[in-house]
Amino acid sequence: MSKKPPLGFISFLRKFDRSVPWFKVLCLILIGAGLLCDIWRASLSPTPVHISHYPLISDAAMRPLYVRRNLTGKKLIALTFDDGPVADVTPQLLGLLRQKAVRATFFMLGSRMAAFPDVAKQVAYDGHEIESHTMNHRNLTQLHPNDIAYEVNAAVDAQKAILGTEPWLVRPPYGAINPSVRANIRQPLMLWNIDSEDWKLRDPAQIHAKTMAQVKDSGIILMHDVYSSTVAAVGPLIDALRSQGYEFVTVKELVEHRQISLVPGYAYGNFSEL
Ligand code: NI
Repeated sequence: MSKKPPLGFISFLRKFDRSVPWFKVLCLILIGAGLLCDIWRASLSPTPVHISHYPLISDAAMRPLYVRRNLTGKKLIALTFDDGPVADVTPQLLGLLRQKAVRATFFMLGSRMAAFPDVAKQVAYDGHEIESHTMNHRNLTQLHPNDIAYEVNAAVDAQKAILGTEPWLVRPPYGAINPSVRANIRQPLMLWNIDSEDWKLRDPAQIHAKTMAQVKDSGIILMHDVYSSTVAAVGPLIDALRSQGYEFVTVKELVEHRQISLVPGYAYGNFSEL
């Protein structure tokens, strides 16, 4: 019986087996280095946010904002939106902010984040800052310390579960703060210094006028992403502020630019007179 030539891979293995020891060592080193590179690369790439149902829109429009901007000498303004996310108004607002290439800060309710997790994920995906407005929008000054802690911690847990991130700041509902609230919250408390009164006015022109009358450098504008009249006001407001030379920042960017270390339990909001 004639000896058949061995198949390709088997032949390779035989040749490899007969090769000199240093060649084997070299091969092992190369394979090991390849594996180490893979592990290193995997450790560098961030865990992608899993979005289940909400139709995702590419972040290409937002990409220029990821570039670190030089804010020195610029007039800064932060748009902040409370009480969301909700199913209809928040996505409308996101579309508008994407179109205008503006990043804002959303003070979300834990209960609504749990009700509309996909909308919350889209807000995060679009690169906006997400902070806490507590779990159920209760007036914390009227609560027992245990309930204050619950309102804050439950919202933190909801955000961790849904977005995998933790809020840095808490905006107490109604801006209501007393010594008990301060003593029982581990995060800095973030208020505002420009009140659009959108919740009361519900009229784009009036919201615009009310806001523009108070506008100033390092302004933090209070609005709510739960009224369509607010979304209607935001577009012209962004245009007007831009034409006055304002640069849009998130609250975190504003605080970082001001080089302020925020202290837990203390209330902030007015960085204009610093
Ligand atoms: Ni609120």
